[in-house]
Amino acid sequence: MPLVTTTEMFKKAYAGGYAIGAFNVNNMEIVQGITEAAQELKSPVILQASAGARKFAKPAYLMKLVEAAVIDCPDIPIAMHLDHGADFEICKSCIDNGFTSVMIDASSKSFEDNIALTRKVVEYAHAHGVVVEAELGTLAGIEDDVKVSAEDSSYTRPEDVEEFVTRTGVDSLAIAIGTSHGAFKFKPGTDPKLRFDILEEVSKRLPEFPIVLHGASSVPQEYVKIINENGGALVDAIGVPEDQLRQAARLAVCKINIDSDLRLGFTAGIRSTLREHPEMFDPRGYLTVSRQNVKDVVTHKIKDVLGSEGKA
Ligand code: G3H
Ligand code: 13P
Ligand code: ZN
Repeated sequence: MPLVTTTEMFKKAYAGGYAIGAFNVNNMEIVQGITEAAQELKSPVILQASAGARKFAKPAYLMKLVEAAVIDCPDIPIAMHLDHGADFEICKSCIDNGFTSVMIDASSKSFEDNIALTRKVVEYAHAHGVVVEAELGTLAGIEDDVKVSAEDSSYTRPEDVEEFVTRTGVDSLAIAIGTSHGAFKFKPGTDPKLRFDILEEVSKRLPEFPIVLHGASSVPQEYVKIINENGGALVDAIGVPEDQLRQAARLAVCKINIDSDLRLGFTAGIRSTLREHPEMFDPRGYLTVSRQNVKDVVTHKIKDVLGSEGKA
């Protein structure tokens, strides 16, 4: 089946109490690892690319990799999404390039400016059969063009969401409930707790409306250990507890964004393989292990966190 939008995926996910995994792609092995897992488990999946990923891989290559995955995985719906689009131009470029979904991230702007820019993207996207995600509230962490410190991050205000969705016509909404981007989400010794009260208040105000959770990596400690035992230095890398993600997926969260966990698996594969085989210099040797680690991460997420197995 051709690339799809997220509309049907989200409708079913909301009704079924599960979420669709949105995994960041940067190269061929990552695309393959993600989609092979989704295909084997008959799970719908969202591939997403940031502006940085498009710059790294080049837009034409990235789209061809995704088109190849669609051919290779005929049994599952796959959506192609722009992650954290910073302005109208990049959203338009992705829509024109064949993406089926875009995020306009104007969350660092004023409420009125966020509405105006989101509305502009929605008008162009909908005219081209593409859906739009926007964000209210701010996550801590580093995105391509936006750096937000923990002190500056702010939870989504539930009292803003109805007006925002009505005035923009957006299709899904990312909210800030305590997650953050990257591998260092919480201080050691603290008890990570997402603000489910905000999620519930938002979903009361937006019945059956799909909510998106960014910064949802769990930072698997087995990969952190492998990286650190093989020359890495990731100190106090801590992620979101998976039981809380599962809980979010049962509620209104229909899309869960995961990038850092794939990066950890990928890097662990390279570091451990090269340490074990100092004589190796064929990239296929270590990239095979990295690709398998990506596949293992996605398999675990689909089965044990998202609940999307068999929902294709
Ligand atoms: O939320 C950000 C994603 O992890 C993408 O990161 O901008 O470094 O590609 P990136
Ligand atoms: P992580 O850094 O937690 O994987 O979050 C990724 C993300 O939100 C991409 O938009
Ligand atoms: Zn994000």
